[in-house]
Amino acid sequence: MKKIIITIDGPAASGKEKISKYISKKYKLKHLDSGILYRQLAFYFFTNKIDSDDVNQIKKKILKINQISFRNSKKIRTQEISRFASKIATYDTVRYFINKLQHDFVNKNKKIRGFVVDGRDIGSVVFKNANLKLYIEVNSEIRAKRRYKQLIDSGEKSIYPKILKEIKLRDKQDKLRKHSPLIVPKGAFVISNNGTFKETIEEITKLVEKNL
Ligand code: DC
Repeated sequence: MKKIIITIDGPAASGKEKISKYISKKYKLKHLDSGILYRQLAFYFFTNKIDSDDVNQIKKKILKINQISFRNSKKIRTQEISRFASKIATYDTVRYFINKLQHDFVNKNKKIRGFVVDGRDIGSVVFKNANLKLYIEVNSEIRAKRRYKQLIDSGEKSIYPKILKEIKLRDKQDKLRKHSPLIVPKGAFVISNNGTFKETIEEITKLVEKNL
């Protein structure tokens, strides 16, 4: 039986993770957050003291990696790892490596009826033939405000202008890179997440029920 695939792409801090979690739970699908894979890889290079600009060293090292954790954790969510992940995501070798991991994950989970996969190039490159493609849009100030509040609420120190600057920098890097840049995938529905979560989910739920 062919598996159901819903792709959710969008910029940093656009709420993809929360939306993907909600949708996968509601429709009994498995959630795959591809950003975690870029972050885990970034964390590995970072802790092994490999420079994110040293593409040759990264290419060499990647051949020796045979497993990457799919687990989320606080240590891969720092600003430093976010920046590192966005940088190594510009290298085609890194992208091929992570794309294969995603296909293997879907193929090996035989009993699962479908997946919600979120990231930057999921509907445009990784799962081009998905049943439903969504692109989440939120303006950068709203994203920065939400991220700021999240950090403050969790007891961390945070400076709003710094967060806004980081978000803009990552947008630039993710959208302007040569390999698989962040774009609205062909056939994707563009969803605004500038309003409330409830409004966004209502719109997405209608699309899921119409398209699956
Ligand atoms: O979604 P995230 O913030 O956890 O992703 C971290 C970085 O990983 C992001 O800035 C760019 C990269 N990434 C990517 O290039 N392609 C994906 N499908 C997912 C993430």
